[in-house]
Amino acid sequence: MPENPENEGLWESHASELKRLREEVDTLLEAARWESGEAISLNEVEINLEDWLQSALPRWKIILGPDAVLTRVGPPLKCHAIVDLRILNLITDNLIDNARKFSKNTPHITLKTEIASSKIRWQKQKWKLQVCDQGWGFTPEDGQKIFKRFYRSKNLAPHSIAGNGLGLHLAASAAKALKMHLSGESEGPGRGATFTLEGYTYAPLQPEQNIRDSHSQKKTGTHLSVSSPR
Ligand SMILES: Nc1ncnc2c1ncn2[C@@H]1O[C@H](COP(=O)(O)OP(=O)(O)O)[C@@H](O)[C@H]1O
Ligand SMILES: [Mg+2]
Repeated sequence: MPENPENEGLWESHASELKRLREEVDTLLEAARWESGEAISLNEVEINLEDWLQSALPRWKIILGPDAVLTRVGPPLKCHAIVDLRILNLITDNLIDNARKFSKNTPHITLKTEIASSKIRWQKQKWKLQVCDQGWGFTPEDGQKIFKRFYRSKNLAPHSIAGNGLGLHLAASAAKALKMHLSGESEGPGRGATFTLEGYTYAPLQPEQNIRDSHSQKKTGTHLSVSSPR
């Protein structure tokens, strides 16, 4: 146990650096696994996206720190999706962590949700979750590169911001594996950044629809699929 406040501060900074290094090693290991072309086994479950988002909020608040301001905009994501929870959390935790890191001072983060009013094939709707910050942002040239492995923008944010340039690369490949799409944009240097994760809802077939579709299946010989059209 530390005997005086000076030692206590030292312990705390050691603990937080250790935590950061552990997270970095985890990211590197995860990236290596994905990069090795090893078949990714997904543990897919059906979730209510709004329930998931609500359960993730306390964790995101911890990642952002006690002073951060987190605002929610847009309708509740009252829809179901098929996801691997660990991977979905990996993607979104990465976006939240970046929003914190690349904020200039106290993070002011807005979470925007959107759900398309029109349905596409198989009763599916498009949903969006955006993480918007008011931080350093990036140039249009960097916008092309930030999803590349090990790429870190050189000209804006202070070099002291720790990282390895793998988070977004990993998050984008993870999104692809979940048949989602991840993109990022910035209005320019110093004007913040917005990262958008989008996907399709899962609409279980209604019993009468099952019967109707099994008739049409017999006629056409096609197979029903519940996977995303992407
Ligand atoms: N919210 C953001 N605002 C500004 N730049 C960002 C943001 N998120 C990512 N970037 C840029 O993209 C780069 C790659 O991000 P990432 O792969 O997560 O790596 P890391 O966080 O280790 O730097 C970052 O180094 C930074 O230059
Ligand atoms: Mg990162």
